[in-house]
Amino acid sequence: MSEKARENFGSRFTVIMALAGSAIGLGNIWRFPYMVGEHGGAAFIIIYVLCSLFIALPIFFCESILGKSTGKDTFGALESVAPGTKWKNEGYIALLGSFIIVSYYSVVGGWSVDFLIRSFMNDFKGESFEEAAGIFRHMTSSIWEPIVSLTAFLGLTAAIVAMGIEKGIGRFAKVMMPLLFIMIVIIVVRSCTLPGAGKGIEYMLKPDFSKIDGPAFAAALGQGFFSLSLGVGCVLTYSSYMRKEENVFYTGVWTAIFDTFFAILAGFAIMPAVFSAGLEPSAGPSLVYETLPVIFSRMGPLVPIIFFLAILIAAVTSAMSMLEVLVTWLVDQKGLSRKKATTLFFIACWIVGCVCAVSSKVFSICDFMSSNVFMMFGALVFALVVGWKMKKEDVRTQFTNYGTSHKAGAVFSVVWFLIRWIAPIGIVIIAITNLL
Ligand code: PHE
Repeated sequence: MSEKARENFGSRFTVIMALAGSAIGLGNIWRFPYMVGEHGGAAFIIIYVLCSLFIALPIFFCESILGKSTGKDTFGALESVAPGTKWKNEGYIALLGSFIIVSYYSVVGGWSVDFLIRSFMNDFKGESFEEAAGIFRHMTSSIWEPIVSLTAFLGLTAAIVAMGIEKGIGRFAKVMMPLLFIMIVIIVVRSCTLPGAGKGIEYMLKPDFSKIDGPAFAAALGQGFFSLSLGVGCVLTYSSYMRKEENVFYTGVWTAIFDTFFAILAGFAIMPAVFSAGLEPSAGPSLVYETLPVIFSRMGPLVPIIFFLAILIAAVTSAMSMLEVLVTWLVDQKGLSRKKATTLFFIACWIVGCVCAVSSKVFSICDFMSSNVFMMFGALVFALVVGWKMKKEDVRTQFTNYGTSHKAGAVFSVVWFLIRWIAPIGIVIIAITNLL
């Protein structure tokens, strides 16, 4: 596809909403609040922000520079900046990473479809926690139910991707992301005004610096990568559809701000409600699909509907970005039409998703591999290619948008140092810590 014919997102607002849509997902809702509580409250939030600022955000800039400057998919971008070298093989890893993540992520997205329907039918009203846990266990152990909901979730995601960058992904993100913020704020207000909510607020905020150790740093960085969708080509691919006048620095900073802000809001939506019900928080599926439906349904019939709709929107906008990595590759490299490419990957992801839906072992392997192997490796390659293969002046030109962004110009030297040294060294240390 020639560069002229390439679609773009249209406005700056749309690009930021699409990138924020990719970033804000299940990671913000079911992992972040729990990690904060476990690793020292506000103390963890501080190290999370530091890791994001000094390692994750520079990687975000690298992907964005690669995508925007070349206007190509992951393979094409790497081949353009390091022609004739092996670096482009990272493209395979990014594709595999996106493919695996979107497949198992869709299983969880499917559960939210299922639970949204149950919330409409007021299924959780009057249930005890054991009964709600039973509903979840029954659903996940049945064969057809998760597969039907996976099909619905992936079908919705694919339908939006098939409509294209501006008319599909862009339009959906720019309408749904503001709505998502409004929904989460409604739940925060309801949750924080419950009797006994103060304990939950304390859980999120009380700083405990004694819990800040090596594993806390590793957790903060891993979470930062997962949350900003780094290392698997999502940011690169979306950035390849930015208009030329867009600013990589500005879009990156705003995406990170929205992502972090939303994660903290999710904490204030969930933890006060959990503590007010006299429970101890947990993370992952059991929190979202066993504990919260009961607590939220006690707060009124609309609350679980808003909550599961919010999860659904957050998950679809993230899944779209992973599917787009795959679709852009087929369109750019193999010349397929967008509709054909989307259909092919819908089928492939559906098959792997079905396996994940029925086998919790495969599901866990996919989860572990994606954040510990694919994302880390991909992020390292992107940092090395931009920091050591591209010329400093070219990176500066892209980062400052041809010298037009003075703010970007002012921080460039620091960002350049972070990209070349701090980010790669940090990734290697943390990847080793995680794998040990
Ligand atoms: N950032 C998403 C979340 O927080 C997950 C994601 C990972 C999306 C990798 C795209 C790529 O849930």
